[in-house]
Amino acid sequence: MDVYGLVGNPVGHSLSPPMHEAAYEATGLDARYVTFEPATDEIARAIDGADALGIAGLNVTIPFKQDVLDIVEPDPLAERIGAVNTVAFGEGAPKGYNTDAAGVVRAFEHHDVELNGTTAVVVGAGGAGRAAAFALADAGSKVHIANRTAEKARELAAVVPDATGGGLDTLDQIRDADVLVNATSVGMEAPDETPVPAEFLHSNLAVLDAVYAPLETRLLKDADAVGAVTVDGAWMLLLQGAVAFEHWTGLDAPIEVMNQALRARLTA
Ligand code: ATR
Repeated sequence: MDVYGLVGNPVGHSLSPPMHEAAYEATGLDARYVTFEPATDEIARAIDGADALGIAGLNVTIPFKQDVLDIVEPDPLAERIGAVNTVAFGEGAPKGYNTDAAGVVRAFEHHDVELNGTTAVVVGAGGAGRAAAFALADAGSKVHIANRTAEKARELAAVVPDATGGGLDTLDQIRDADVLVNATSVGMEAPDETPVPAEFLHSNLAVLDAVYAPLETRLLKDADAVGAVTVDGAWMLLLQGAVAFEHWTGLDAPIEVMNQALRARLTA
């Protein structure tokens, strides 16, 4: 039996175990997916220990995504983003990937949104914002990053190809954008809060909200009301998991089955 898992602190309410175990069942893999919660100063020992125990793969979440970058051999994209959310064990050093980035691109693709040649606004410059900004730029978008702390957005923009950055006072750039990503936590467990004034939304926009609790955030409701394409946070969660599954197993992820397992546990 292969063991996969998630390391984070806390990991209590993770939806990854049912999502991945549904995929193992559907593909006939003899595998389990469990959660691990090492102390925050124990992550290096935890990764070494997992390797020694023959664990096949780990997802990594808050607060360890940056720390793990220095412990494993990151691929070039994870290195640029500065965060690893997926580790694959095997021969030699553990390999690190950032599947949050691919999750963003695949979420748009799944909704028939062509990214190449578009103008995109990413709200947020934390871990999710970094992954989204690099992913969109690599997919051919011209990216503007707007963040509460403007300096962080400018620093990120300086390393993302062809990107600009500024404070939340630059959110009006959404008026001329094709693509919008909310990569802040605004709206999480707070159905009335949105990071973006509704007046900037329009019908030519495709909006991805990384928040998945609730699924129908205020931002997505506002976007839907003006006729924009909406992509909820479960798609990003699903597709980052699907890409991790593909790195680990070499198989195509059974997206529909994973999606059902995930959505059965999420509420609108
Ligand atoms: P994650 O890894 O999920 O991206 P993070 O690294 O803590 O989490 O980043 C959180 C992001 O949400 C940041 O961009 C943060 O803005 P700051 O850089 O100014 O802190 C943004 N954020 C959090 N709360 C916010 C709020 N109330 N209004 C606007 N932005 C907020």
